[in-house]
Amino acid sequence: MSKRMNRREFLTRGGAVLAASTLPLSLVEVAFGKTDERNFTFAFISDSHITHIRGNEFVRNWDRGLVRAIAETNLLSPKPDFIMYGGDIAQLGKPEEIDHGLELLSKLNGDVHYVMGEHDYYLDLGEYWEKQLGPQWYSFDHKGVHFIVLNSILTYDDWMHKKWDSGMARMLQMARLDNPQGSPFMVGETQRQWLKDDLAKVSHDTPVVVFSHSPLQKIYKGWNFWTEDADDVQALLKPFSKVTVFYGHVHQIQYNQIDNMSFHAAMATAWPWPYPQSYAQAKSFMPKLTVQMNRADPFFERDATGWQFIDMDTGDAAMKYNLYDNQNRTVAYNDASGKPEDQRYQAAENRIPPQDHY
Ligand SMILES: [Fe+2]
Ligand SMILES: [Fe+2]
Repeated sequence: MSKRMNRREFLTRGGAVLAASTLPLSLVEVAFGKTDERNFTFAFISDSHITHIRGNEFVRNWDRGLVRAIAETNLLSPKPDFIMYGGDIAQLGKPEEIDHGLELLSKLNGDVHYVMGEHDYYLDLGEYWEKQLGPQWYSFDHKGVHFIVLNSILTYDDWMHKKWDSGMARMLQMARLDNPQGSPFMVGETQRQWLKDDLAKVSHDTPVVVFSHSPLQKIYKGWNFWTEDADDVQALLKPFSKVTVFYGHVHQIQYNQIDNMSFHAAMATAWPWPYPQSYAQAKSFMPKLTVQMNRADPFFERDATGWQFIDMDTGDAAMKYNLYDNQNRTVAYNDASGKPEDQRYQAAENRIPPQDHY
């Protein structure tokens, strides 16, 4: 088993890690697996739902959630290698919302990579987002890890192109929960073929990290905590020895292990969704591994929102959830059990019982 750096060592050796990032990728690949210099961190901010009111007015509460995540990210030491944004910058996909969100995000010190959310997409089928941010799916390599960004919120062509009179009608339908007029998310055939081609260039022992907006697993269909072709995407990822999937959209802590794949959800900076079974009282497939959020005060709308910092310790992810007004949590891959576990609350006897509010 490879030797791991602890946090203190990582802090003191941050300079060496930074130097490694400027090397050509081939050299980093040589270093990978033989030294600890492949450890690095990145920040993960998601689901800000910037909402335009009129003129230059926006819903202040959603602005403030994002502003605080950006401020804390900029104070991090060691500085994260990059920042991922997990999708749903906007509430209704309006150019004003995307522009305002990107203006706030421009204060981040570092490169930001973006994932498409359904709230960014369904007004104009991603046209404005793409104009500002580039391709909707892509991959890159960083310190021996292969990163893939997917647009997982596509749906059937007829639903997207023929069913609605206007882009806003389409957007408002997709924004609703438990909507019989809605349509399930999917990665789709074109992108799956691209993924297959992309993965063909990657050796099976390279750690692969995938970002999607919706979970690439089936949890609860009514809220699109679901990707219709998740099984097909998982099949493409199965040959790799270590795969980690990060996603937004669910606005809550979830984690899971399916075969070789670890899954981690991001909290939103805007608002928390409840866990499906607690609200919809419908059958859901919440991962058994997940220790649910303890919401200290469900009547405080910022409780259970936040942002996350991620240590990629030797290719495994340790997800550090930073909550606005609640106990921070870390969910990290446990070599011994072969799955992600909450470092504090995983054991049943350590969990905080849910609180009743009347
Ligand atoms: Fe969202
Ligand atoms: Fe979403």
